[in-house]
Amino acid sequence: MTASISALLLDWYDAHARSLPWRNPPGLPPPDDPDWPYRVWLSEIMLQQTTVAAVKPYFAKFVERWPTVESLAQAEDEEVMAAWAGLGYYSRARNLIKAARQVAAQGGFPGTESELRKLPGLGAYTAASVAAIAFGERAVVVDANVERVVARLFAIDEPLPGARKAIRAKAETITPENRAGDFAQAMMDLGSQICTTRSPRCLLCPLSHPCEARKTGEPGRLPVKPAKQAKPERRGMAFWIERDGANEAEVWLVTRPGKGLLAGMRALPDDGWNAGRDGSGKPPLEGEQVRQGSVRHGFTHANLVLDVVTLRDAGQPSGKGEWWPIERLEEAGLPTLFAKAARLALARE
Ligand code: ADE
Repeated sequence: MTASISALLLDWYDAHARSLPWRNPPGLPPPDDPDWPYRVWLSEIMLQQTTVAAVKPYFAKFVERWPTVESLAQAEDEEVMAAWAGLGYYSRARNLIKAARQVAAQGGFPGTESELRKLPGLGAYTAASVAAIAFGERAVVVDANVERVVARLFAIDEPLPGARKAIRAKAETITPENRAGDFAQAMMDLGSQICTTRSPRCLLCPLSHPCEARKTGEPGRLPVKPAKQAKPERRGMAFWIERDGANEAEVWLVTRPGKGLLAGMRALPDDGWNAGRDGSGKPPLEGEQVRQGSVRHGFTHANLVLDVVTLRDAGQPSGKGEWWPIERLEEAGLPTLFAKAARLALARE
């Protein structure tokens, strides 16, 4: 039965594979193109915790601007961070730069899962997926989609995260020797299109016959999720400081420190809420404070309510920063939290 699971799935993939910009058509070996591993790696890093729809424009922008790993390795950190702005989980971009430089220095991507694993930002999932998709290695690829498919297929009803060991062991038994990249991507497509979290579409599923969870009548119950922890709420302030520049209105932007939340990203100055001084309200300089409202943002570890405050007649802030033309704020590469805050300040001013 396990051999036929991969055959059933690959037949389905041959007919239904999504066509994606980082993908080879089904059934073909990895192309003989020196930049192929780069594209696969870049897409897999971007797709960590991020939807295909969100990734597509970023992937297009990156490969147009940096078509090879060598070109990315030579880019300035700030340029790459700004190009990543809005995609979230910025440690991915910092690791992307480090890994690109390491790969360029080594003369190319290593071709095995275990060597890939040593690069910054490549955990078990990404190393396996790049090894399988870029190099055709039989690697066992388990992401959240695959977890869901496998937990249902074998009716593994132990709750996550404890179930991961059993899920991995079962995934190992169904991964074929050949077409490992197609198999991994077929599992991802099945998980995102058919074996969905809610209301799985079992009537369309190529694996409905062998699926143990379907026989129970409640496939949507699996995998059993751990009880959700309530996220703490944090509060902080961001400051909008404007001046009339030589030709146009400008806003004061800072670059966040190299460590911690949104490290290395351009941002509005804030009151240090993230450094433990929660909501201290301390502005970076004197001036009339006008509260414009607040924006909300969910981080993995906390939900933040950020009050947006305009400082009027404030003068020149001390400390490092730059006056940025408001007309070209789009190009500053503000992460989503500060882009939201800037939009609010601009709408209210
Ligand atoms: N999610 C992560 N990697 C993916 C891929 N290669 N195709 C589709 N979805 C994915």
